[in-house]
Amino acid sequence: MIIAVDGPAASGKGTIARALALHYALPHLDTGLLYRAVAITVLRADGDPADPADALAACAFDDLLLGDPELRSEKAGAAASVVSAHPAVRAALVDRQRRFAGQPSGAILDGRDIGTVIAPEAAAKLFVTADPQVRATRRHAELAGRGASPGLDAVLADIRARDERDSARAAAPLRMADDAVLIDTTDLNVAEAVAAAIAAVEAKRG
Ligand code: DC
Repeated sequence: MIIAVDGPAASGKGTIARALALHYALPHLDTGLLYRAVAITVLRADGDPADPADALAACAFDDLLLGDPELRSEKAGAAASVVSAHPAVRAALVDRQRRFAGQPSGAILDGRDIGTVIAPEAAAKLFVTADPQVRATRRHAELAGRGASPGLDAVLADIRARDERDSARAAAPLRMADDAVLIDTTDLNVAEAVAAAIAAVEAKRG
């Protein structure tokens, strides 16, 4: 069984995908990490994330980088949103995502284009969203917990800019698949959001 979990930044899709992975004992890939690894590789090489050649060269990043805490920074997220708009970067990362999805056990992938591009055959597709203000508040608290303290206004502005860039790009934009189930986590706590996700998967499985 493949489960696709898509949605905008800080919607709760990562939390839901990790909970589903535990519940169904399936391997989980956070595909945003791949774009974040490309972004950090470009930045460390003093390249420009907006430059397609710099970004494509960085797709040959070392897998060890996927465990680097710097990938979780806002800087990496913003640069990931920029490199992910290059069609060549997306193409370079398709195979490893499809291989992960194609494991005999099945898999859970979360990102922006899992249900639409990477695994359109997924048995269950969730599109997780929440009000931008609520997403900013959550991300702000998460960053504070890790010792980073950008202002709430800056976090909200970053989230809005990322929504805009991820949705407006021509290559695999953030879009809800026609057969996805919408989960709006604005008024849900984690337990409620996870319960709604499991119910949606169960309904799809029939
Ligand atoms: O989910 P995230 O915040 O870690 O993702 C970082 C950026 O990577 C996001 O702004 C857009 C890009 N991304 C993408 O284009 N496609 C994916 N499947 C996952 C992430």
